[in-house]
Amino acid sequence: MTQTRKPSRLPAHDRHVLYERAVQSPHAELGLLTRLLRRAGQPARRLREDFSGTALLSASWVETGPDRTAVAVDLDPAVHRWAITHRLPALGPAAKRLRLVRADVRHAPRGPFDAVLALNFSYQVFQERAALKAYFAAARRALVPGGLFMLDLFGGHLSQQAVTERRRIGAGVTYVWEHEACDPITHRVRCAIHFELPGGRRLTRAFTYDWRLWSLPELNDLLAEAGFDRIEVQWDVEPPGVEPRYRPRRHAANQGAWLAYLVGRRPGRTARS
Ligand SMILES: C[S@@+](CC[C@H](N)C(=O)[O-])C[C@H]1O[C@@H](n2cnc3c(N)ncnc32)[C@H](O)[C@@H]1O
Repeated sequence: MTQTRKPSRLPAHDRHVLYERAVQSPHAELGLLTRLLRRAGQPARRLREDFSGTALLSASWVETGPDRTAVAVDLDPAVHRWAITHRLPALGPAAKRLRLVRADVRHAPRGPFDAVLALNFSYQVFQERAALKAYFAAARRALVPGGLFMLDLFGGHLSQQAVTERRRIGAGVTYVWEHEACDPITHRVRCAIHFELPGGRRLTRAFTYDWRLWSLPELNDLLAEAGFDRIEVQWDVEPPGVEPRYRPRRHAANQGAWLAYLVGRRPGRTARS
């Protein structure tokens, strides 16, 4: 795709811009992934970003090296239209190394990729075990032997309660995460993101989610059943309020709310073995 257009002007409170500022940390997440690939002796060149939304991670990836390519996969054409208008032009020549693909992640390009990322809990859209397992198996098939699949997850007893969290994200905007409901029988959770804007205005239900809250052991088992090995939990080892630092852990002290990463490897010879 050739990108010669200039980035178009964004409305001051574009919901995608606010979302990225509030919940995405491409530098930290790609830093963690790169460290894990290096430790595994794998190249860190070809990335697939599943549930990509506006493809911020993919763009950050291709910007960090001329040998890095990314495929951003999303079902919703609107988020990729946004990326074509606002993200790719700002990337310059690196935009040639980023491909936007409209697809269900279970039928996404096969690559092969060095890594597949599924972040911001988006895989929880699959509420049936068979559907989530089919997705995990498809992600494994898209990896080179030794390649890594990384997803994030949250938990703790607070994640099963109706709670509202507020956080200032600069320029007079407050990000509001509302956990509207959790069904203890099905673990179906309904969540919404709102933004409070300067002047008392509000972007209500800017994003909404209807997810199944999968537990860490369930995800761990499903990754194993889908054919991953060396499955590892990357746990935040810093106390609350300190910049997170993720390290592999087999056990952890209980907490009201936590966020972690799960990483699985496609079995087979690694690039250096
Ligand atoms: C929470 S957003 C994630 C955006 C971004 N990846 C992030 O880390 O913040 C979820 C995205 O997943 C997409 N999506 C939902 N179901 C999907 C599916 N089965 N296949 C591909 N994309 C899907 C939605 O269109 C939406 O853009």
